[in-house]
Amino acid sequence: MKQVYLDNSSTTKVLDEAAKAVFDVMTENYGNPSSLHKKGIESEKLMRQARGIIASALDVNSKEIYFTSGGTESNNLAIKGAAYSLRRKGNHLITSTIEHPSVLEVFRALEKEGFKVTYLRVDKDGFVDIEELKEALTPETVLVSIMYVNNEVGSIQPIKDAAKAIKDQNKDTLFHVDAVQAFGKIHLIQGLKDIDLLSLSGHKIYAPKGIGALFVRDGVRILPILHGGGQETGIRSGTENLPGIVGLGVAAETCFKNISEWQSKMSELKKRLMDGILKEIPDAVLNGPALGAPHILNFSFPGTRGEILLHALEAKGIYVSTGSACSSHKGGKSHVLAALGKSHDEQDSALRFSLSPYILPEDIDYTVRVLGIEVAELRKFVRR
Ligand SMILES: Cc1ncc(COP(=O)(O)O)c(C=O)c1O
Repeated sequence: MKQVYLDNSSTTKVLDEAAKAVFDVMTENYGNPSSLHKKGIESEKLMRQARGIIASALDVNSKEIYFTSGGTESNNLAIKGAAYSLRRKGNHLITSTIEHPSVLEVFRALEKEGFKVTYLRVDKDGFVDIEELKEALTPETVLVSIMYVNNEVGSIQPIKDAAKAIKDQNKDTLFHVDAVQAFGKIHLIQGLKDIDLLSLSGHKIYAPKGIGALFVRDGVRILPILHGGGQETGIRSGTENLPGIVGLGVAAETCFKNISEWQSKMSELKKRLMDGILKEIPDAVLNGPALGAPHILNFSFPGTRGEILLHALEAKGIYVSTGSACSSHKGGKSHVLAALGKSHDEQDSALRFSLSPYILPEDIDYTVRVLGIEVAELRKFVRR
């Protein structure tokens, strides 16, 4: 049966060249980068090369890159590390209502520890309002965290304007950006101007799972959340995941070499999918902006149930998500769609299609055809 993987925002297939590099490190360059002998020094060199690749992809300095176990850890480290480090300067934090749980849950935990948190609302397409951000900033605000690309609906936040608004008000207020769905997919702000902390994750860009990185601008002090051997200049203790780090480097290099071509390829696929769905199912409801990130498209099919539709598509070899992979384990309720003001029916009947440059136009046409049949079939059984 034909297989169409449209769940690339949940995770991606590892690139062959990245998998090969991982295998080589596991079987040959297995020395601990902290060891003083030849094997250690070789590993240290590989780690340095990978750090250099990530730094140049972000247009920043190598010493500003810290390897972590993924996006969740990078977000926890950035937010907790900054909040604890700046606690004496102020206890007000700002984020948005549509962040990933690895950001939102950290803020909720910090609230329990006495921090005050403002959650910025978003408009019907999932964009934060810069004027609302400006109004929320106070002399007590020590950290703002806003995601680059929303993982459920693909809205690209006005990060440049947000950075300017924050720094105009107080240059000491730190700005963290969760760029897990943006890194390697869209062009980021040059030199990450006015961004102090930025999270990324390997498995969203064709690298293995369990590897990520955090950019920490030179001079910004955050407290570690893991204590141990002092690796990564004390910011992230623990023997480095060298196979993952090398795999991340190889995957990032490939993504950045092809970024413009892949972006336009995915945009075309996304348009084909969007136009196809609207033609086949005219009352389908687009969630998020039509022109958001090139790889994320979210639609509701009122009168169906997203989870049932997901399994009906799966039976035909098509893999999609209801909301994000994380929210799908919590009964499919999406805090993002709720924040966009979607009705219960729209929330319950939403599917996220997330693309890769490896998808073919005929895969999209097949998906549209199957979707049309399955939506019509389901609507016979689910009462509206
Ligand atoms: C926007 C966003 N942030 C953070 C994460 C968490 O990344 P990881 O799975 O590497 O922990 C994800 C994963 O879905 C995400 O989409």
